Amino acid sequence: MKTINIGLLGCGTVGTGVVRLLLTNEVKHTQYAQAKMDVKRILVSDSAKKRDPVIRPELLTTNPDDILEDPSIDIVVEVMGGTGLAREYILRALRAGKNVVTANKDLMAQEGEELFREAARYDVDLLFEASVAGGIPIIGPLKNSLAGNRITKVMGIINGTTNFILTKMYEDGSEFEDVLKLSQELGYAETDPTADIEGWDAGRKIAILASIAFNTRVTFKDVYMEGITRISSLDIEYAKKLNCTIKLVGRASERDGQVEARVHPVLLSLSHPLAKVDGVYNAVYVEGDAVGDVMFQGPGAGEMPTASAVVGDILSVARNEIKGVTPRENCSCYDRKEILTIDRTVDKYFIRMTVVDRPGVLSQISGVFGQKDVSIDSLIQTKHSEGSAELALITDDVIDANLRSALDEIQHLEPVMAVSSVIRVEKDS
Ligand SMILES: NC(=O)c1ccc[n+]([C@@H]2O[C@H](COP(=O)([O-])OP(=O)(O)OC[C@H]3O[C@@H](n4cnc5c(N)ncnc54)[C@H](OP(=O)(O)O)[C@@H]3O)[C@@H](O)[C@H]2O)c1
Repeated sequence: MKTINIGLLGCGTVGTGVVRLLLTNEVKHTQYAQAKMDVKRILVSDSAKKRDPVIRPELLTTNPDDILEDPSIDIVVEVMGGTGLAREYILRALRAGKNVVTANKDLMAQEGEELFREAARYDVDLLFEASVAGGIPIIGPLKNSLAGNRITKVMGIINGTTNFILTKMYEDGSEFEDVLKLSQELGYAETDPTADIEGWDAGRKIAILASIAFNTRVTFKDVYMEGITRISSLDIEYAKKLNCTIKLVGRASERDGQVEARVHPVLLSLSHPLAKVDGVYNAVYVEGDAVGDVMFQGPGAGEMPTASAVVGDILSVARNEIKGVTPRENCSCYDRKEILTIDRTVDKYFIRMTVVDRPGVLSQISGVFGQKDVSIDSLIQTKHSEGSAELALITDDVIDANLRSALDEIQHLEPVMAVSSVIRVEKDS
């Protein structure tokens, strides 16, 4: 029986899970790959740190050369995170003819093109299933099982922290800041939650998914991102009245050769499959011309779910190594499609504003909308209280730039006190 030697770069949450899973299901893995998986060396930053007993201390090293320059290592598994050293080490591994498995979304969303080029040049595999939605298989299915389709849309709840916050706000009627604090206490949100609540984490993941779904390079900087910090309990109340919920979604679509990729909150009909994905769960919904709609749902992070995706990649690479068929997959971005900027996108919007309560204000506002080609589908409610009134309305499909220009003008109208919410309404809702 042959042995596949693995070098782990990093041994935190995910790395420890990978070692644990390789030990737990060792027999099955050996049968699957027709080889024994052996974790030969593990790079960490502090070898004196107390670790889970599954980690054998003699495997630890703080010198990357012990892995990158060891000719017997077949697969380098990068689970240290970051974009600086992780990039350098992955490039060194590829150039040394080693296959690489990574869970690093930041790196893949930013530097994927360079890494794939090097993997192809050195005829090795570069797999990254765990980089999007942790334990949910989505990269493999998009690249392989759904390859026969023309994909028109990929939409997902791909950040557990924000989904936990929005779910709690929906269930309890609580305000964003309070639920954020609770999420931090429960360990669901980081001390600095910016990357989650501003949509950057989901932005990296949708860049990766869009690139694979539409076979064109979409990087993090191509993604329009809007977070959930401005969503209030009042917005959720309105959503409920409309039989909707509010979710932060990563959304990418292709039409007439143009691709758009964005992250923002949406009003989503309760009948939409993604509306039922609650708490820290993730889901990715895909539309293909042959398959129709499919949804992948499950745990989007965590030690063992993420290890599940990483070990799946390790076994695929190992099996190919044993059969001598690497590289199994090349970069699938063989097209160069135009990326649509957000100002040219078309959506329906929910808008909530506070105005002075007197006759003629609504017609003043409708006048500006009319001039900017923004038509109103429905006025949901006008709530009056002590000299002010709250207007909540839904527009028809409008061009983003037209809406922004109308709202700029409306905000400066004398009777308009505040435009409190502008939230997209998912078209299928
Ligand atoms: N956690 C999840 O649920 C999850 C889900 C999907 C994807 N990911 C991705 O998986 C990767 C790892 O995440 P994680 O949560 O496992 O991170 P983590 O718990 O912070 O672990 C990072 C590991 O890398 C080591 N490390 C960091 N910088 C290093 C350096 N300069 N030199 C040597 N070793 C270094 C650390 O060493 P020490 O142990 O000595 O500190 C630690 O073992 C990230 O790219 C993350 O985005 C994580």
